Amino acid sequence: MHHPLSIVILAAGKGSRMKSPKAKVLHEICGREMLYYSIKAAREITDDVIVVVAHQKDAVIRAMEKYFNGLTFITQDTDSFPGTGGAMMGIQPKYGDVLVLNGDMPLITRTSIDAFMSSESDIVMSVIPLDNPSGYGRVIIENNHVLRIVEEKDANDAEKAVQTVNAGIYAFKHHVLETYIPRLSNANAQSEYYLTDVIAMARNDGLTIAPLYVEEVEFKGVNSKNDLSNAEMIMMDRLRRDWMDAGVIMQLPHTIYIEEGVKFEGECIIENGVRLCGNTLIVNSHIKAHSVIEESVIRDSDMGPMAHIRPLSVIEETHIGNFVEVKKSTLTGVKAGHLSYLGDAIIGEGSNIGAGTITCNYDGKKKYQTIIGKNVFVGSDTQLVAPVEIADNVMIAAGTTVTSGKYESDILILSRTPIRKVVGFFTKFFGKGQQC
Ligand code: UD1
Ligand code: MG
Repeated sequence: MHHPLSIVILAAGKGSRMKSPKAKVLHEICGREMLYYSIKAAREITDDVIVVVAHQKDAVIRAMEKYFNGLTFITQDTDSFPGTGGAMMGIQPKYGDVLVLNGDMPLITRTSIDAFMSSESDIVMSVIPLDNPSGYGRVIIENNHVLRIVEEKDANDAEKAVQTVNAGIYAFKHHVLETYIPRLSNANAQSEYYLTDVIAMARNDGLTIAPLYVEEVEFKGVNSKNDLSNAEMIMMDRLRRDWMDAGVIMQLPHTIYIEEGVKFEGECIIENGVRLCGNTLIVNSHIKAHSVIEESVIRDSDMGPMAHIRPLSVIEETHIGNFVEVKKSTLTGVKAGHLSYLGDAIIGEGSNIGAGTITCNYDGKKKYQTIIGKNVFVGSDTQLVAPVEIADNVMIAAGTTVTSGKYESDILILSRTPIRKVVGFFTKFFGKGQQC
């Protein structure tokens, strides 16, 4: 059930502390831009999600439209009205209750947003007690009433010593915003319009402001690359726990990297050091240590250790051994046990790919396909120069270079330089009784 609640997500800032040409909210956590996570949590609660954009606005909108339909994007005039208060100008929420969320808080969940809705106060704002409050706005509280928020850059030494900080999420009655947003001023250290100044103005007019004490683990703001990696560790831990709860076996889970788009079905075993990326689906499979799988489907198979499955591969009922790289290939009922590159290939049931087999899929200009039928025995150290098509029931001798073309069923393909023996060579070269 949706609350009659509008959620505004502030995502217009540059994020200069990230020291990056990329907009802060587009930095990734578990394979998705951090803004995705706050929108996802907001969408679980309401149909009215308003995202404020400005810096790299086209890139931000494009990135979010990959995941969500029906978002409202509002462009902030950051030249005339910079700051989180400027971001709130021109917002037209659908509902009377408005929750404002910073776009740099990817760890927020639906449950923690729900807590803001349980109070009758004019404003509910999040506060976190922190040992090290630096970087955050300090919340000045007396008798459980919030008096004001002071930004670090505007704080005096006594205010800087305050350890309760503003987490950056607030529930307002719409009329509160209508009254105070137009009255904000930018007379502060950053010459910005601070949303946080609404608190002191509302307080002076006798409105009720309730502090909601929250946990840093869900309300952490990401402002630097260090924050980004810390947030990613927390998020990844959640993903791994959820998947283990759903029945996945993980060995040394803290060493396993999993992205948000990865899904598992049935019973899967994931060994230590595995990296799973993109929209990968793994069904009833065993992924051995230090394998990397990107954007692929793995079903009823085992692979690794140290296999590399690159995007758009579909691998079913297949055994992939160590040091095998597969790219954009469909393997069904195949054994590829060791040291191979299989790119742009389709390989059929019962086929065996010998060690050192390479599909030569690129001629320096274009990529070509290799199609191998059923029950094909590919000997070790075979090169298949694509485009090449091998029918069912074929044997390829070890060391063969299979040149481009079509090969019919029930043949042996063999290309080998005949052996030449030079009798007495060893002794002549190294001398009698010598060792090489
Ligand atoms: C803000 C709060 C601070 C709080 C902290 C919590 C203000 C003035 N300060 O500070 O009290 O402790 O969050 O994390 O609000 N944004 C815009 N338009 C802008 C500027 C920022 O949309 O003109 C967006 C950013 O994209 C970001 C969010 O607002 O998602 C917060 O901006 P940021 O610069 O990170 O604010 P903080 O300095 O962290
Ligand atoms: Mg911030």
